Amino acid sequence: MKFFVDTADTEEIATLNDLGMVDGVTTNPSLILKSGRDITEVTREIAGMVAGPVSAEVVATEAPAMIAEGRKLAGIADNIAVKVPLTWDGLKACKALTDEGMMVNVTLCFSANQALLAAKAGATFISPFIGRLDDINLDGMELIADIRRIYDTYGFATQILAASIRTVNHVTEAARIGADVMTAPPAVIHKMAEHPLTDKGLATFLADWEKTGQRIV
Ligand code: E4P
Repeated sequence: MKFFVDTADTEEIATLNDLGMVDGVTTNPSLILKSGRDITEVTREIAGMVAGPVSAEVVATEAPAMIAEGRKLAGIADNIAVKVPLTWDGLKACKALTDEGMMVNVTLCFSANQALLAAKAGATFISPFIGRLDDINLDGMELIADIRRIYDTYGFATQILAASIRTVNHVTEAARIGADVMTAPPAVIHKMAEHPLTDKGLATFLADWEKTGQRIV
């Protein structure tokens, strides 16, 4: 499973990237706002830090303008994936940009039918939003499983990018189902290393080690 980090915070990206945890990055307009930085500048910096795809989202809502914005974003670096929303215009932009050889991440996906359309339009990635479905008492993970089944049945090459991940259990479940990629906020990725039995075991080992009076030199 590939790990993308869902942030435009370059310090957070660098910390995880140094550990080999970053196969790519996803951003969106809200994350750009949170970073307080200029989209072109911060996207260029991120794209220079990681080898994998860096998603940058268009904000136009009509296909011709989306395509123009997509070309501009893709021009920032070779590893940009243009992010378009799953609207009819977004699908048109996806098809056009894909035909021009760009990577496209179709975002804001909330149904299997939407995912089918994105695959037909040639999307590189489909981003089903798990957390936002859970927020309204629907089952985000069931959607990932449905898309996995459908894509495998028909041999679609579009990669399933499990997005809107809020908990470590979301990561485990998405991995179990076979999502190709997951994108999570840095805090969730850090939390994946935590286990109370690890802390407890380590405390015991260190206390016993202290009693030996030895040093490793
Ligand atoms: C993914 O590409 C999105 O940027 C992100 O996962 C959305 O997550 P949220 O629903 O927690 O805002």
